[in-house]
Amino acid sequence: MSTCWLQGKTVVVTGASGGMGAGIAATLIKKHGCTVIGVARNEKKMLKFVDELGETYAKQFSYELFDVSSKENWEKFAEELQEKGVKVDVLINNAGILPKFKRFDRYSYEEIERAMNINFYSCVYSVKTMLPMLLQSSTPAIINIDSSAALMTLAGTSMYSASKAALKGFTEALRVEFQGKMFVGLVCPGFTKTDIFSGQGDADMSNGAKVMDMISTDCDKMVKMIMFGIEHKTPMQVHGFDAHAMSVFNRLMPVYGSKLFSSIMRMSNVDIFKEVFSD
Ligand SMILES: NC(=O)c1ccc[n+]([C@@H]2O[C@H](COP(=O)([O-])OP(=O)(O)OC[C@H]3O[C@@H](n4cnc5c(N)ncnc54)[C@H](OP(=O)(O)O)[C@@H]3O)[C@@H](O)[C@H]2O)c1
Repeated sequence: MSTCWLQGKTVVVTGASGGMGAGIAATLIKKHGCTVIGVARNEKKMLKFVDELGETYAKQFSYELFDVSSKENWEKFAEELQEKGVKVDVLINNAGILPKFKRFDRYSYEEIERAMNINFYSCVYSVKTMLPMLLQSSTPAIINIDSSAALMTLAGTSMYSASKAALKGFTEALRVEFQGKMFVGLVCPGFTKTDIFSGQGDADMSNGAKVMDMISTDCDKMVKMIMFGIEHKTPMQVHGFDAHAMSVFNRLMPVYGSKLFSSIMRMSNVDIFKEVFSD
């Protein structure tokens, strides 16, 4: 049994039906004996996760199906928890989407609002509605899964980067405002092998996949690194070779770093960046 501060806590994990969220939820349950309430939209994916957990561990997991980008959904969720007398200690905002790589003028307002609502406003709503409950815990914590895109902006990621940069600013303000009252963690992973790239639609991933595969971190490995950081209450986590490179280059060369990385993307000539660099 772990002696970590997470032991036996009740944790809400958004995006728990797949990718890193599922890995984080499983580790909390299996390693730390946590009770996890997972949030996502797709019940089929969620049931697959429950099945993978196995009968014994599944008892520590329950889920709610709702779109995290709606304020009303969060208000209803918080009310229901209160009515049931559930006390949440930790909130992990992990749900997110990667919009198709495009030059900015090719995004519709619908795509722009979707990116900001799911990646940024969802976290504002969850924190606003869950904060009073979290602050009643003896170990309150909020961990926001951000991205290396908040550390350096690449061509084709205007809306993803904007949403993740907003999340970084929001999280960093929470960290200083609730210093000594609550642990606030920011996690910036680099490219990780998950289903998030399925949002690239019908783009031919065959040549892009090779490039992505080369620079992406294995999902289990990323989850291990993230969990180590959470277990040790690391306030700012940057994981993955690409994320470290982006972080360093952006600090050394805030303009040329981004130009350099974007030029490499252009030269790679892969299909997924077609709508970024074509005229
Ligand atoms: N993979 C990467 O390369 C990478 C790199 C840096 C940062 N990140 C960040 O890490 C987080 C997790 O990403 P991932 O790679 O694990 O992605 P993923 O495999 O696509 O999983 C995303 C999860 O979020 C849920 N979700 C998406 N939109 C939602 C919505 N509107 N309401 C409720 N749930 C929603 C999905 O469930 P449903 O489909 O069931 O709703 C799923 O469980 C994201 O915030 C992402 O931006 C990922």
